Amino acid sequence: MAERGCYLLWLRHDGAGLLPFMEVIIQPTYQQLVAIAAEIIRDALLKKPNLVLGLATGSTPIGLYETLVRMHKENGLDFSDVTTFNLDEYIGIPSAHPCSYHTFMTTHFFNAVNIPVANRHIPQSTAENHEAFCEGYEAAIASAGGIDIQVLGIGKEGHIGFNEPSSSLGSRTRIKTLTQSTLEANAQHFGGTVDAVPKMAITMGVGTIMEAKRCLLLANGESKALAIARAVEGPITAEVPASVLQMHPQTVVLIDEAAASQLKRVDYYKQVYANKQKLLRI
Ligand code: PGA
Repeated sequence: MAERGCYLLWLRHDGAGLLPFMEVIIQPTYQQLVAIAAEIIRDALLKKPNLVLGLATGSTPIGLYETLVRMHKENGLDFSDVTTFNLDEYIGIPSAHPCSYHTFMTTHFFNAVNIPVANRHIPQSTAENHEAFCEGYEAAIASAGGIDIQVLGIGKEGHIGFNEPSSSLGSRTRIKTLTQSTLEANAQHFGGTVDAVPKMAITMGVGTIMEAKRCLLLANGESKALAIARAVEGPITAEVPASVLQMHPQTVVLIDEAAASQLKRVDYYKQVYANKQKLLRI
C-alpha cells in the first residue's frame, strides 16, 4: 500500500511534492504528443490560474499552441491571469519582422488567447543595452515567482533555447552566437537563405531553464532522433545542453516514434508509461 502511495505521488502531474524524474513519453504521432503536452498545461492552469509559462518557438510547438487555442475557444480555458516568458529572440531584426519570435508568438498563440499584453514577455531584440536587458529579464521571471512549466524544443545538436553546444550549464539570460547548424536549420524561415538568418540571439540560459519547476521537451521527426538519444541517454555535457535535463527535478520528454528511433530503451519507456496509465486507472 505504501508503495502504491509512493507511485501515485510520482504519477501526479501537478508539480507538487514530486520525486525527481525524467519521463519519456513516446507517441505514434505528432498530434498525440502535442495533445498530451496541452493536457499537462491545461491541468496545471486549472489548478493555478496565474500559471507562469515558459514558451518556445519553432516548428515543434505549433501544434501545442493550436491545441491550447482550441481549448480556449471551445472549452473556455482561461489564460487571463497567465504570465509568459519566451525563451529567446533574434538580435538584429525588429520585433515586427515577419520572422521574429515576437511575430511568431502573436501569430500562433497570443492573437488567439486572452493573455494580457502586460503579462507577455519576449526578449527584446532591439534593446540598446543588452546586458541590462538580460538582467532585467531574469529579475522579471523571479518576480513572477519563477516559471511553472517551460516548453522546450531541441536543436539537431542538442540546444535548448538558443543555448548552443558548449554553453555553460549554469548560464543565465545572455547573448549567444548561433552555430552553423542552427543557421542552416532556421534558413527555411528566411527564404531558404542562410545569410539572411540573424547570427546572434538573446536566450534564457541553461541555468535559467533548469530553475523552471517543470519542463516539457517536445520533439518529432527523425532529424531530432540523435539529439534526443544524446539528451536522454548520453552523458550530461555542455556539448549537448539538453542533456542537463537529466538532472532536472521534473522533465517530461514528449516525442514521436521517429524522434525516439535512436533511443536504446524505447520498449522500456513504453512499458513504464503503460504501467503508469494502468496505475492511474486503479
Ligand atoms: P524546431 O526548432 O522546432 O523548428 O525544430 C527547435 C529548436 O531549435 O529548439
